Formats: sequence, C-alpha cells, structure tokens
Amino acid sequence: MTTIVRALLAHTPRDPFVGDGALEAFEDGALAFAGGRILAVGDFAQVRAEHVDAEVRDERGAILLPGLIDCHVHYPQIAVIGAMGLELLDWLRTRTLPEEAKLADLDYATETAQVFLHALARNGTTTALVFGSHFPAAQEALFEAADASGLRIASGLVLSDRNLLPELESTPAAAYEASHALIERWHGRGRLRYAVTPRFSVSCTDAMLEVCGRLLGEAEDLLFTSHLNENRSEIALVRELFPDAGDYLATYERFGLVGERSVLAHDVHPTAGELTRLAAARASVAHCPSSNAFLGSGVFPLGRHLEHGVRFALGTDVGAGTGLSLFKEGLMAYHMQMAFPGGRRLAPAEILYLATAAGARALGLADEVGDLSPGKSADFILVRPPEGSTLAAVLARSPSLEATLGSLFTLAREESVVEVRVAGEPVFG
Ligand code: GUN
Ligand code: ZN
Repeated sequence: MTTIVRALLAHTPRDPFVGDGALEAFEDGALAFAGGRILAVGDFAQVRAEHVDAEVRDERGAILLPGLIDCHVHYPQIAVIGAMGLELLDWLRTRTLPEEAKLADLDYATETAQVFLHALARNGTTTALVFGSHFPAAQEALFEAADASGLRIASGLVLSDRNLLPELESTPAAAYEASHALIERWHGRGRLRYAVTPRFSVSCTDAMLEVCGRLLGEAEDLLFTSHLNENRSEIALVRELFPDAGDYLATYERFGLVGERSVLAHDVHPTAGELTRLAAARASVAHCPSSNAFLGSGVFPLGRHLEHGVRFALGTDVGAGTGLSLFKEGLMAYHMQMAFPGGRRLAPAEILYLATAAGARALGLADEVGDLSPGKSADFILVRPPEGSTLAAVLARSPSLEATLGSLFTLAREESVVEVRVAGEPVFG
C-alpha cells in the first residue's frame, strides 16, 4: 500500500556548504512511501500522477521534513537540564555525576530511559547517538527501551577508570567484559547500533582507551564517541594527565579511536593540527551550541571547521544543552555565529542540513536517512504550528520557502511536532 502525504516539504539532499541549490522545497509538495521506503518526493500534482492508486493524506498547513538527527545527547542527564551557574568541571562534579550515579537503581534507570526516548521522539528526533550510562544494567535498559521505541539509536556503556565519582568508575578488564556482552546482544539488532564510549580522556587511563580500541575491532560498523576540546580547564587537565600526547585529539588517536565512524563532541578550542587530522580521518564533530553557551565553554569555530574540511553536525548535548529540540539547537548555532566577531552566517538550508543529512553522514547512515530522496527510509516529521501560535502567524505571512525554514528553526519547538515516523511507522503522534 502506497501512502502519499501532501504538505509543504523541504530537505537538503546535497551539502549546502559545498554548492548552491542544496535546498529542495515544494510549497504544495508530496512524499510517497510504501514498505517503509520513500518512492517519490516532489510537487503534489506530479507525485499523485505517478502513484494513482496511493492513499492520499492531506496535511496542507503542515511542513514535512526529514527526521531530525541528534549526534550527541546524554540519556542520564534529563534531570540536570537547566543547572545554571557552572562551567564544565564544576557542573560535572556538583550536579551531573551525582545524578548519573542514581542510575545504579535499575527502576530509576528504566524510567529515565523511557522518559528520555519519548522526549526525543516528541521533539522530532528520529535518529540519535546517545551517550549512555556507566552502569551495564542501566545501559541494557536504554537499549531495551530504544528497541521498543522504534527510534534509530546508537549508544554504549560509558567507560571511565579515574577522576570521576568512584561509583561511576570501573576497571579496563570489567569495562571490556561488560561492553563486549552489550555489543553481542545489541549491535545491529533492529535499528540499534553500539558506540564505544569513553567519557573523556580526563576520566580514562591509557589502559582504558586501549580497551576501547580493542572493542572497536570486534564488530563491523561500531561507532566511537567521546568529548574533545570543550573547555579550557578540561584541555589543561588533559595536557597534565597525558604529558606524552601532543594534544587532546592525540589521546584518542594513539589507540586507533579516530576514524570515519568517530563522533567527537564540541571541539570548541581545536588547534590547526587537530583540525587537519580530524579532516584526514573523516571523523565528525558534534556541534552543540546551546551547551557551549550554557556552560560558557566558548564559541564553536565553525568557519575553521569548514576551511579544514572537518565534518560536523548538530548535537543537543542534554543535560548541558538546554533541551532536546534540534530546531532550537539550529537557532543556537545561528545565534552563536552571529553574536561573535568572525562568526559564519548560517543560512536556513545550512541549518536544516546540520540537523538532518550532516548527522546521517556523521553516523554512517547517509545511504539510509537524512533526506527524502527516493530509496531512503521513510523517516520524516510533520510540523504543524498550534492554532493561534506566533509561529502560525509568521508562517501565514512567509514570503518564501527559505523564510519559512528560518522561521521554523526560530519558533518551532516540540509543541509544533505533530507526527514522527521511522521507516514509515509512527514513533510519535
Ligand atoms: N565531558 C565529560 N562528560 C561530559 C558531559 O557529561 N557533558 C559535557 N558537556 N561534557 C562532558
Ligand atoms: Zn556531552
């Protein structure tokens, strides 16, 4: 059975940072899908003519976009959103690590996983790379809930063996055993994948990072994720802890952790050498502007990442990030670049790309999701501004499709997301 959804439709099947015409949008557009796959995208009249037997859902007044992709978000941190007044290391010590320690209680972890996944879907996020828990049982709970949710989730047990709370630390041997078991059980099951996840170099010895390298070799398509160059005090600490590493990135490189399936969050303060090596490795950076502003970490050097050819995509970084909305995260990316001298002005199409197709590429899913091209999975969202809302008033007066997109990132939030589908199946709405 083929379904056609009729709506205003926008996506970025090409990279807007390398050429013009990346935004494809249709005022009276349509998406045709069947069996979880996209069959056609374009003007309604044309798509309808090509699929005369399809069931048509008239969603005019709504905007259809690809499912949003969050490249960096912490599931155990829902409760610390909004913990104000602290920079990274104090924020971790006083607010965040104590909250993460609560996930030793499996009931609390299970409930947190469910709440988190529901909130992701509610915000229009269909795919996410999720920083997990330090507790194997809590990580198991996340995978179980993610499997049931229908979302595309990559995640992994968070590994640390120093400089955290003692209850969040393990040993390299225990970390290996627990991670190995989770990989066997969850990697490649349904829409789930495993990501090897040392918390950050500050909380890992060489022996723990070596275990991460060993784990990465154990299955095809495993992801790697961690943090990089987020905060100046953190970077100074890494320098002290790893006197033999030339820079922060090198602490990961030495164990084979930086490659095409690696996603490193933040990179607010990179050296030129690190940017060159990230680009050569085809590794990706998760750009998390609301977190960078909230923790006072600094301004992401977006232009330098572009100049060096480093891949990057958006992450909300909840709970340092201020919510799970990639619309708001896109606006924050825009704000941060505009507010600081030398920032790179982002266009609406570029922001849409960073919230969708760029994330798909970072997570190794570019052939499957990220835009609405025929053949890809039917992962999409419908955004309908609530009646009487400011967004409704703005969209009713929009002069162009590009302006509509700019207004969406500025004003649309979870209240406007009315339907979310992964492979054609509803996961919200
Ligand atoms: N570095 C190590 N852990 C964290 C975390 O939980 N959040 C952020 N923003 N940075 C980190
Ligand atoms: Zn983070």
